[in-house]
Amino acid sequence: MSASDYPDDSAGRAFSLGELRQGLAAKRLGGKFHYFSEIDSTNSYARQLAENGGREGELVIAESQTQGRGRLGRRWQSPPFANLYFSVILRPRLPPALAPQITLMAAVALAETVATFISQSATIKWPNDILVGGKKLAGILTEAACDSERVDYVILGIGVNLNYRLAAMPDEIRARAISVAELTGKSISRESFLRRLIHDLDRCYGELEEFGFAPLAPRWEAHFGLRGKQVRVELLDQIVIGRAIGIDQDGALLIEDQQGARQRVIAGEVIPVEN
Ligand code: BTN
Repeated sequence: MSASDYPDDSAGRAFSLGELRQGLAAKRLGGKFHYFSEIDSTNSYARQLAENGGREGELVIAESQTQGRGRLGRRWQSPPFANLYFSVILRPRLPPALAPQITLMAAVALAETVATFISQSATIKWPNDILVGGKKLAGILTEAACDSERVDYVILGIGVNLNYRLAAMPDEIRARAISVAELTGKSISRESFLRRLIHDLDRCYGELEEFGFAPLAPRWEAHFGLRGKQVRVELLDQIVIGRAIGIDQDGALLIEDQQGARQRVIAGEVIPVEN
């Protein structure tokens, strides 16, 4: 991929930390940046940092990843220059059972950031995907380390398809993925997008710390694309088919199954069922 794939020079060039810092005034996030032109996975590196005393808010960003990871062992396509791949260390004061709220909080922040860049509506696919028109625009991978009492750290990893052109995507994701540039018809400044996202994450994380998930829940629900829809949920050892109702305060997905019973899903793959 080269700069000539883009209609202007705001994409296809190295990310500028100097430009990102202009006007950046987040309280908790982005106190320190670790930039790599290539890395295996920003989540893996952030994890090593956290294990070695890395502080809350330290952020790892890379132009490209050779082993970008998604949920459920999937690979995250991470070509250079086009998109955002970053991970941030959080040290939330949460009991381990509430650690999934970090993913939900991040999904709200990401959906709110995306809404300022596109005119189409962005939906959240529980627990961690941001979709537009049913296609994946961004994903969140949270990895937590906890003891029995509390969360030690959470690595919040986010990948956003910003200037990824459909023509440049591998065949296996082209039908399922979309980018901000494809939706708007123009290249997006990665620095502007990330600055806005850091502010939104900082704000939502602050709300979660101060008030719990309550103020974020209605905003999460407002973006929930599958509410009321028939879904098939693939769990490790079971498949649940039913109607998606929403989430509870712990971030579990609520499904009304075919017998009318309410099921709580903590981890699994949710697939809409065509009627
Ligand atoms: C998913 O949708 O399954 C989650 C994708 C998360 C991808 C990001 S890119 C930055 C960070 N580093 C990784 O290896 N993964 C996350």
